[in-house]
Amino acid sequence: LLGSLISKINPNLIRCVSSSNTSTNAKKVAVLGASGGIGQPLSLLLKLSPLISELSLYDIQHTKGVGADLSHIETRAKVKAYVGKEELANALKGMDLVVIPAGIPRKPGMTRDDLFNTNATIVADLVTACAKNCPRAIIAIIANPVNSTVVIASEILKAHNVYDEKRIVGVTTLDVVRAATFVAENKGLDPTKVNIPIIGGHSGNTIIPLLSQASPPVTFSQQDLDSLTNRIQNGGTEVVNAKAGAGSATLSMAHAGARFSFSVLEALNGKEGVVECGYIASKGDFSYFATPLLFGRNGVEKSMGFGKLTDYEKTLVEKAKKELNGNIEAGLTFAKQYL
Ligand code: NAD
Ligand code: LMR
Repeated sequence: LLGSLISKINPNLIRCVSSSNTSTNAKKVAVLGASGGIGQPLSLLLKLSPLISELSLYDIQHTKGVGADLSHIETRAKVKAYVGKEELANALKGMDLVVIPAGIPRKPGMTRDDLFNTNATIVADLVTACAKNCPRAIIAIIANPVNSTVVIASEILKAHNVYDEKRIVGVTTLDVVRAATFVAENKGLDPTKVNIPIIGGHSGNTIIPLLSQASPPVTFSQQDLDSLTNRIQNGGTEVVNAKAGAGSATLSMAHAGARFSFSVLEALNGKEGVVECGYIASKGDFSYFATPLLFGRNGVEKSMGFGKLTDYEKTLVEKAKKELNGNIEAGLTFAKQYL
């Protein structure tokens, strides 16, 4: 019944319900920041999945209530709730995947960078605990500014000698979700059938949609190209302004975070050909860069690269350079001081 209900709501979630035959391989997943605007609906979506045997909820507040509530849902994932720093180590032990939406969100007029001072320390503390308690877990970072927090997390894992570039990813799925929605609207397509690769990073100019590589193939006027690119790059600000001080995207992010998590878990279980975009360490012009990634039994198998860019897309990459490199540098500088 639950499966048929969900499949009526969102075809992307059919995967999590219909894969119940493979549930013997179910994995352990922790959500850090589980009581928050993203954390709660994300935990709900994860609780519905037979891909998960144990759902570990951690926050500095309210997790016992969130956990009690979710634990009454008739699905297999066993919910465990942990609150406060003393319980963090136990929340992490044995985890296969750790998703981190802990941190403050934007208010109108703020950039993601304005969150750096608070969120850098939150992510650094949480990833330090991951290094000590679940060094082989895949870590998916949602907390902003993603362009810097992933760098900080990586430096911390390196300092603890547990760094594996296959296992630490910045979640950019919401950009992919938005691009599919906006392009489908523009072209009158089914949004669940549209895919637009997004490269670069996760803030303003650094979000680079490759509209020339849309699937199904579609063409745009220059005006549509400009307006769609601009809307995808500023989708987060659109929500922040509409929420008028009450935070940033939470529900669409919960969906995006669940979609990303299910893809990682399916790949860990041996499914082949699983591709999601994500922000990872890179050997190209940038030391961190988002591209479509092929996931496998150990996390990121490889970056799929970004194919041939149009002149317009090359200009977008050029425009992203200064900001993205600055964000990476800020992460490295913070990590040096923190460690
Ligand atoms: P929120 O304020 O509603 O929730 C954050 C939660 O983190 C709170 O429950 C808080 O108690 C918890 N928290 C704070 N410090 C913590 C710590 N040290 N350990 C554990 N938990 C801690 O915020 P939100 O709307 O859920 O957003 C969370 C973050 O996600 C923000 O930084 C936001 O910018 C980011 N975000 C990223 C994307 C993306 O696409 N990557 C999308 C939306 C939001
Ligand atoms: C988003 O893209 O919605 C998030 O990064 C949150 C924000 O601050 O815009």
